[in-house]
Amino acid sequence: MYNSKRSNVSPHTDHRLLDFEDLTPMYRHYINIKEEYISSLLLYRVGDFFECFFQDAVTVSKEVGTFLTSKEAGKKIGRIALTGFPHHSLDRYAKLLIDRGYSIAICDQVEDSLEALSQGRMVERRVTKLLTPGTLMDDELLVPENSNFLVALTIRDNLWGLAYADISTGEFCTTQGVDLSNLKSELLRLQPAEVIIPANDIDSGRMIRPGEESSLLIDAFPDCFCYSLRTKTTFDLNTAREKLLNAFKVSSLEGMGCHDLPLAISAAGGLLKYIEDTQIDQQLTLQLPKNYNLNDFLIIDYQTRRNLEITKTIKNSIFKGSLLSTIQKPKTSMGARDLQRWLIEPLLSIERITERQDTVEELVEDITLRHDLKKLLASIHDLERISTKVTSETANARHLSCLANSLLKLKDLSKLAHRGKSFYFKALQNTPKELEKLGIYIRSHLIESLPVKLKEGGIIKDGVNAELDNMRSQIEDDREWLSNLEATERQKTGIASLKVSYSKSFGFYISLPRSKASQAPAYFIRRQTLTNEERFITPELKEREVRILNAQKNLKKLEYKVFTELRSKVAKKGYAVYQIAKSIAAIDILLSFAITAVEKNYCRPQILEDQLLKINNGRHPVVEELLPPGSFVPNSVSLKSSSKVLEEPNLIILTGPNSSGKSCYLRQIGVIQLLAQAGSFVPATSAQIGIADRIFTRVGAVDDLATGQSTFMVEMNETANILNHATEKSLILLDEVGRGTSTFDGLSIAWAIAEYLSEEIGGKTIFATHYHELNELASKVSRVANFQTIVEEKPDSLIFLHQIRPGGAKKSYGIEVAKLAGLPSSVTTRAKKIMEKVSQSSRIILKLNELEDN
Ligand SMILES: Nc1ncnc2c1ncn2[C@@H]1O[C@H](COP(=O)(O)OP(=O)(O)OP(=O)(O)O)[C@@H](O)[C@H]1O
Ligand SMILES: [Mg+2]
Repeated sequence: MYNSKRSNVSPHTDHRLLDFEDLTPMYRHYINIKEEYISSLLLYRVGDFFECFFQDAVTVSKEVGTFLTSKEAGKKIGRIALTGFPHHSLDRYAKLLIDRGYSIAICDQVEDSLEALSQGRMVERRVTKLLTPGTLMDDELLVPENSNFLVALTIRDNLWGLAYADISTGEFCTTQGVDLSNLKSELLRLQPAEVIIPANDIDSGRMIRPGEESSLLIDAFPDCFCYSLRTKTTFDLNTAREKLLNAFKVSSLEGMGCHDLPLAISAAGGLLKYIEDTQIDQQLTLQLPKNYNLNDFLIIDYQTRRNLEITKTIKNSIFKGSLLSTIQKPKTSMGARDLQRWLIEPLLSIERITERQDTVEELVEDITLRHDLKKLLASIHDLERISTKVTSETANARHLSCLANSLLKLKDLSKLAHRGKSFYFKALQNTPKELEKLGIYIRSHLIESLPVKLKEGGIIKDGVNAELDNMRSQIEDDREWLSNLEATERQKTGIASLKVSYSKSFGFYISLPRSKASQAPAYFIRRQTLTNEERFITPELKEREVRILNAQKNLKKLEYKVFTELRSKVAKKGYAVYQIAKSIAAIDILLSFAITAVEKNYCRPQILEDQLLKINNGRHPVVEELLPPGSFVPNSVSLKSSSKVLEEPNLIILTGPNSSGKSCYLRQIGVIQLLAQAGSFVPATSAQIGIADRIFTRVGAVDDLATGQSTFMVEMNETANILNHATEKSLILLDEVGRGTSTFDGLSIAWAIAEYLSEEIGGKTIFATHYHELNELASKVSRVANFQTIVEEKPDSLIFLHQIRPGGAKKSYGIEVAKLAGLPSSVTTRAKKIMEKVSQSSRIILKLNELEDN
C-alpha cells in the first residue's frame, strides 16, 4: 500500500502553508483534529490502516521505520507526505512511539464504513484515545513489573510542590520541599514517565521529549524525562483544592496530609486536570493522595542508585547484573513493582524494619510455609491494575474473571497467614469476607471461557438474568425450528432433494432443484432462479429469521448491560481490593527476601540506633553470582560514626593494587546497608547495622557526557554535594575521588576531604584510593584507619587474594596489572624504569609529615 510514487516535487509536510479549502473533505477533517491535538502525533484511521500525514508522517516514519510516501490531497494541493501501518499493529507502533517520548492521539472510525459509504457520506471519525507516556492504562503498553509515574510540579522560588500518580494502579502521592537540588534528586528517584510543568500560555500544550534541549527547562529538571507544558491556570491553588475535594468527595484536605502545603496541592490539582484532559472515553479514579516527606526514607541519590546498580547496571542500563536481579523475583506483578519501590525507599524506623525481618525469618525457618505461599501467590493476578481498570470502566470480562479467581484465593491465603505470627502475616489473617463474596458473585455471573470483546455476547451465564434466559430460550426454539425445517418441509412436500440454506444477501431460503420447482407448494414464495436451482422463502421462515437476528442483537446488548452493572458493583469495592493488593504485594516481597536468604545463605542483620556498622564476612551479591561458586572472598568491616569514640574508626583509607577488589568492597558495604534497611537479610555471616540517613557514593573521574561537564568538574560537584549534605548518620563511600586531576592537586584534595569527613562530619566513610600517601592521615587523625586489599607477588605474576587486611598498601602494582592486560613488554619495562626514578625523587611523604596538626 505504501509504495512511493516517484515525483519530482517533494510532498507537502506543513499543512499550515496550504489553502484549507483546496483540500479534500477528509484532509480538512484531519487538519481540524490535528489543530486540536497539535502536540501529539495524530494516527488517523483510514480503512484498515492508521495513517499519518504531513510532518507527523515524516516523524513517525523516522522513529519507527514505516515507509514514507505521498498521496494526493486535493487537485490544487498535489501530494502530501504520508505513512501508515495496518490497524492491527496499533499497539506495537504506539508502544514504540511512546517509548520515544511522544504522545499520540488515535483518531478512529466510530461507525461502520460500509454504512457511511452506502449513504454517500464520509465515515465518522473522532479521537478515541490520547496516549501520553505518563497516562497509560493498556496492558500492552505497560511493563507489569514497572511503575509508570506521572509527575506534576509547581515551583515558587526555592520552594517546590510535587504530586505523582501511577494511573494504572491508582497510587497517588504528594510532597512539598525546599531547594531545587532536592527536587532534582526526587525526580531522579521517581524516574517518571512524564512530568507536567506549568508554562506560559504560549508554550502550553508543548511536549519536550527526553534528551531534547529546551530553554523552558530549568537546571532542576533532568533532561532524561519527558515534559508536558500546561498553562499555569491549571495549577491555580483554589481550583486545585476544589478539584481534590470534589474528586475524593471530602470536605477537607486534612486526611490527605497536604492541607497546609499549597504547592503540593497545586501540583496535585494540575495532575488531576491533566488526567481529566487526556482520558477521553474513560473516567479515572485515583486512590486518596498520601503526603510524604523526603526524609521518610533512607535517601539514595541518583549517583548512589547508579553506582550501587540497584535496579539496572551502570554499563548497559540493564536489569541483569543489578542488585534487583539477585533477589528472587516476586510471584505477583504488584509484588515486583513494590519491590523496586522498597529498594529505593529503604526505611528509617527500626520498628518497621524489624516487622519486615520478623516475617522473613518466619519464612526462612519454615520451608513448607514458603512453598505453600509461593504456590498460592503464583495464582493471584495483578489485583492493583485490574481494580483500577474496573473503576475506570475499561475492564473486560477476562479482567473480572481474573479478579474473581484471585479473590477466591483469599480464604486460602488467610488460612495460610495463620501459620505466621509476624505483622505481615497478621495483616492477611482476616481477609475481608466481602471480597470473597465478591469473588463468588462475579464467578456466578461469568462464563468460563470469555471473549476479549464485550459487545459480542458470550459473557453471562444462564440463570443470572431472567430476561436474558428468556431471550436465549426463544432463540434456541427458533434455531431448533430452523434446523428441523428441512426435514419438515421434505416430509410435507415429498421432495427429498429439498434443502434449507443461508446466503449473506438474503438470509435463509429453501432450495429446490429446477426439475422439482414446479412441485413447490403455494406457500413457497419464489425469490431467485439459478441455473440448477430455484430459491424460495416462506413467511414463517422470514419471521423466525428476523426474530433470531433481532434477538441476537438484543441479547448482546443485554449481556453488555448485565456486565456493566456487574462491573459497577465490583468498582464499589475498588479500595478494599487495592488494600488487599498492597498486603499481598508486601508478603510476596518478603517471601522473595526469604527465598533469596535461604538460597544464598544470607543472615538477619541486627538493626541499631547506634551508629555502628559491623559486617562479618560480607559479600557482594552480584559479583558473587558472577563468579564460580565458592570463589568470592568474603570481607568484614567495622566502622562507627562520631568524631569522639575511639574503639572503631569512622573513616577507612583503603589502598591496594588495581583490580584487587576495592571498588567491589565499597559497593558491597553500600548494598548491605541498603538491603538491611529495606528489611531484607544480607549477604554476610553476621551484621550489626546502625540506621543510616543517607548513603553517598562517589566514583572518581567518570565522564558525564550527557551534561557536557568536564570529568573533574562532575567529580567535584558531586563531592561538594556530599560534603554539604552528609551527616554523622550517613554512610559515605568514596572511590578514588581526586583522580581526575594532577597527582598533586588530586592528592591534596583527597587528603583535605578525608580530614573533613572524619573530623567535621563524623559519618562512616570508606575512601578507596591509589594515593598511598593518604595512609599518613591515620597518624594525624585519630579516627582514621588504614586497610588494604592484598595480593601475593610471584616472580612473574600477581595473585589477587581479594582480602581486606589492616595496614596501608605500599605499591599499586599498576605496571604489573598493565602487563597482565597485555601491554607490550618494551612499554612496561620502560615504565618500571621511569617509576624507579620518579619514586626516588618524590618527597610528598616528607612534606606531609610537616603538615601542621590542625
Ligand atoms: N572479594 C572478592 N572475591 C573474589 N573476587 C573479587 C572480589 N572482589 C573483587 N573481585 C574481582 O576482582 C575484580 C576487580 O575488582 P575491583 O574493581 O573491585 O578492583 P579495584 O581494586 O577497585 O581495582 P581498581 O583499582 O583498578 O579500580 C572484580 O571484577 C571481581 O571479579
Ligand atoms: Mg576500583
